[in-house]
Amino acid sequence: MVFEEGTLVVFIDRQGRHYLQRLQAGGRFHSHRGYVEHDRVIGANPGSTVISSIGEEFFVLHPTLMDYTMNMPRKSGIIYPKDTGIILMWADIFPGSRVLLGGVGSGALLLAVLRYVGPTGQVVAYDVRQDMLDYAAQNLENYLGETPNLTLKLGSVYEPIEERDFDRALLDVPEPWQAVETLCSSLTPGGIVCAYLPSITQVDAFVTAVKQTAAFILVETIEVLLRDWHLAGKSVRPNHRMVGHTGFLVFARKLERPR
Ligand SMILES: C[S@@+](CC[C@H](N)C(=O)[O-])C[C@H]1O[C@@H](n2cnc3c(N)ncnc32)[C@H](O)[C@@H]1O
Repeated sequence: MVFEEGTLVVFIDRQGRHYLQRLQAGGRFHSHRGYVEHDRVIGANPGSTVISSIGEEFFVLHPTLMDYTMNMPRKSGIIYPKDTGIILMWADIFPGSRVLLGGVGSGALLLAVLRYVGPTGQVVAYDVRQDMLDYAAQNLENYLGETPNLTLKLGSVYEPIEERDFDRALLDVPEPWQAVETLCSSLTPGGIVCAYLPSITQVDAFVTAVKQTAAFILVETIEVLLRDWHLAGKSVRPNHRMVGHTGFLVFARKLERPR
């Protein structure tokens, strides 16, 4: 299907840099490699090549969720795709699941969760800052359009919440140990919690609080290291640079009642 006006696309330059653009009749994509008229892309096929005003080549594609997440506007730290991929699998987010999310931020994790739970799932997402909720809502709309299965709520997951029977809970808040009571009351028996924590002292505090409830088993802490490789002729080696640290991931599974 050819690109239409209003489509979100990604321009990729020779060096693999990604630039998000929404196609508009008469619009222009500008970069330090010259500009490209949007009209030359409207009507073209995904994967086509365009040449900029100064003769530079760009490939044009539909952005993947990863392209979008890494290039969308943000005003908080985000959970990176390398961690998101593991969160979705380890926390077993499934189509139709009911998910509690604490700490919406820019909406990066929320985007992936919404896509995984699908139209039959439900996500209730809390943040203590209305400006973050508004910011994330804009990011979500730009990529997903309408999200009727999402409820964004202003409030703290450290306080009791009214919703019950979540299959999964995902926390990216500074002190998730303060949310343990909320997890106990709102997660369904057998439900899974995942907390994302940048610092190991936070991990210790969260794991201690979770264990004290005696209501969780399978408490597990992991860290995801991703290393990509450079393959060019005889130079076949890991890249010199990598993301050294993002965060730790703690997972636990809730029992029917404390042991
Ligand atoms: C690092 S950001 C989350 C980023 C998000 N996971 C993403 O991928 O874009 C942390 C967010 O948690 C929110 N927050 C802090 N304390 C909270 C609480 N007690 N309950 C809910 N949200 C909270 C902050 O306002 C902030 O927006």
